[in-house]
Amino acid sequence: MTLTDWNDPIAPSPRGPRGSAGTLADDATGLGEIDRGAARVSVSDKAMINARADVNQLLPLKYKWAWDKYLSGCNNHWMPTEVSMQADIALWKSRDGLTEDERRAVKRNLGFFAASESLVANNIVLAIYRHLTNPECRQYLLRQAFEEAVHTHTFQYIVESLGLDEGELFNMYREVPSITDKAAWALKYTQHLDDPDFQTGTEEADRAFLRDLVAFYVVFEGMWFYTGFAQILSLGRRNKMIGIAEQYQYILRDESIHLNFGIDVINQIKAENPDLWTKAFQEEVRGMLADAAELEAAYGRDTMPRGFLGLNAGHCEEYMRFIANRRCGQLGLAPVFGPSENPFPWMSEAMDLRKEKNFFETRVTEYQTGGALSWD
Ligand SMILES: [Fe+2]
Ligand SMILES: [Fe+2]
Repeated sequence: MTLTDWNDPIAPSPRGPRGSAGTLADDATGLGEIDRGAARVSVSDKAMINARADVNQLLPLKYKWAWDKYLSGCNNHWMPTEVSMQADIALWKSRDGLTEDERRAVKRNLGFFAASESLVANNIVLAIYRHLTNPECRQYLLRQAFEEAVHTHTFQYIVESLGLDEGELFNMYREVPSITDKAAWALKYTQHLDDPDFQTGTEEADRAFLRDLVAFYVVFEGMWFYTGFAQILSLGRRNKMIGIAEQYQYILRDESIHLNFGIDVINQIKAENPDLWTKAFQEEVRGMLADAAELEAAYGRDTMPRGFLGLNAGHCEEYMRFIANRRCGQLGLAPVFGPSENPFPWMSEAMDLRKEKNFFETRVTEYQTGGALSWD
């Protein structure tokens, strides 16, 4: 173990001055010594990464888009236990309610999501939060972390309701190679940031941070989750597993904000640090999206080897290409695939719960207003 030498001079950041008024009060975590004499926070000192401003002060706001997403997340509050699982239980337990192919697809889908929600949550809390030096973005990350906990809760509730083998489901990310391949691909990016010696402030490190944001927000939540939603919502449209389908609609609504937050974060970092977004790095990101689409295609073939009514591995691969091209557009990149059609045009409707309140003719609880406290 090495002991810190308290007399060591602190090296300046290679990418410019850190700290307001030449102090060290601007530690990225916000857990450093309080700088008693520092000037008050000015909006111009706030930045996405390597900020000079105190990260413990939410106001004055700089990024209204981050605050708005925090408010939208709060307005979308839901809990999985509010959704009735009776119809799903009856269908799952009846011998000919679902075909063997449908059961396999449902179980693998649940298995993929069950561990993935935890991987995404861990990345937020253990990797991203420390290095995103903006308090309104951190406010959103705290909300998102809770939503990921609600999503993990959903899979616990489904396992319990249907009487599924919890060991089988929660271990799929280690035991089913096509799921392991996806998790391992994303994990390498978060492992890099989790290194205690990792800190942003060099071009190399800042690019590593961007890679992690691409891997988790754009690929994991923005590509792989979408084929997962399409599988279950496709069953729901045929009146199968309607409780899980309703839960997936809520998760999809949350995830579409997570994705858009991630896209905004990446684009804001690009705008503030244009030197990071070189042609070579843009090609690298496009390569990441192409690799991710291939991993998803392999997962689709494994999950639906024969396909079933309205859905097969080919559709999922086509959808992944369509989504990958859309994500490229959102990041200002050229598409990775040739022109591709959306084989699931109904997915955009499934995302708009307000408009499609009775999509599955089930109850939707709105959390637009808080209940009054009773002191009796
Ligand atoms: Fe989630
Ligand atoms: Fe998410």
